[in-house]
Amino acid sequence: MARERIVTSSQIDPEEDKVQLTLRPKYLKEYIGQKELRGKIKVALDAAKGRGEAAEHTLLYGPPGLGKTTLAHIIANEMGTKIYATSGPALQRTGDLMGILTNLKEGDILFIDEIHRLSATIEEFMYPAIEDFKVDFIVDKGAFAKVVNVPLKHFTLVGATTRAGMLSAPLRDRFGLYYHLDFYPAEELKEIVFRSAKLLEVNIEAEAAEIIAGRSRGTPRIANRLLRRVRDYAEVKGDGIISTQIAQKALDAEGIDCLGLDELDRKLLKVIINYYNGGPVGIEALAATLNEEIDTLVDMVEPYMLKIGFVKRTRRGRVASPEAAKHLGIKNQRIDRQENLF
Ligand code: ADE
Repeated sequence: MARERIVTSSQIDPEEDKVQLTLRPKYLKEYIGQKELRGKIKVALDAAKGRGEAAEHTLLYGPPGLGKTTLAHIIANEMGTKIYATSGPALQRTGDLMGILTNLKEGDILFIDEIHRLSATIEEFMYPAIEDFKVDFIVDKGAFAKVVNVPLKHFTLVGATTRAGMLSAPLRDRFGLYYHLDFYPAEELKEIVFRSAKLLEVNIEAEAAEIIAGRSRGTPRIANRLLRRVRDYAEVKGDGIISTQIAQKALDAEGIDCLGLDELDRKLLKVIINYYNGGPVGIEALAATLNEEIDTLVDMVEPYMLKIGFVKRTRRGRVASPEAAKHLGIKNQRIDRQENLF
């Protein structure tokens, strides 16, 4: 990740992680939004508890910041078991994974974030662990090498990914439960902002919470981050109370516009519209022009642009919509003619 954006939902700042942790709901009943999904998780967990079994392996997928990690912790709390969290890129050696797996107790959760980034070796090593709760571990080398079959406790693998399509079919097929998290509507984000404000012991006007919710790109992690920026502003420039006016001013000062788009979002749209005449343009060319990683654009920027219809993916590349040009106040007749693409 090249740099931090206020509206990205990446977890890269340890200080930020600490605050997110205090705001994170611990049980399903505290969780706001994703009602259907919550219902399904509750049934699955209640059934597993009723049978006295570990929960089934679960795959959570959807854009960053919507609560995949939070849900993994909630699953552990609801089951009354421990959670061990790691990530696809962090798991480099089978030995490390072996250590984690053999320490898991009955019903414990192994949470692997960015599971689509597991190496092929680690992934294959995982298959018997997931399927039969055992691992084949090779000890010694050359002529003395032998396979030791190590039994494991019945644990639950919870995988999270922003890109379900990038998971290999054999891994995907080993999950019993799949849950897709979608962007939150503004009313739910408003509730989340109120809940977080209460936990942070800050006073907030209803309309101010609405403004923050409306600029959070459907993402709770962004809502919580914006709330903290607005709280800072209220403490320094006001009397500590988050009024409508303070919220508006603080977010304007941060360069977050009325739709929640930040500098990088607007830059992406401007590049497609002005530099590539509305598109289509390939993601590689876009990333190079913007000097950003492809993954940053695909995971952090694009999903919301696609959701609000400002960008469309076509076979020949990305195209900007007439609404995107209008939002930025750019006149481009070629884009207006592309309306039929949307
Ligand atoms: N904080 C972050 N996400 C949340 C959610 N979905 N419900 C309640 N609080 C949250």
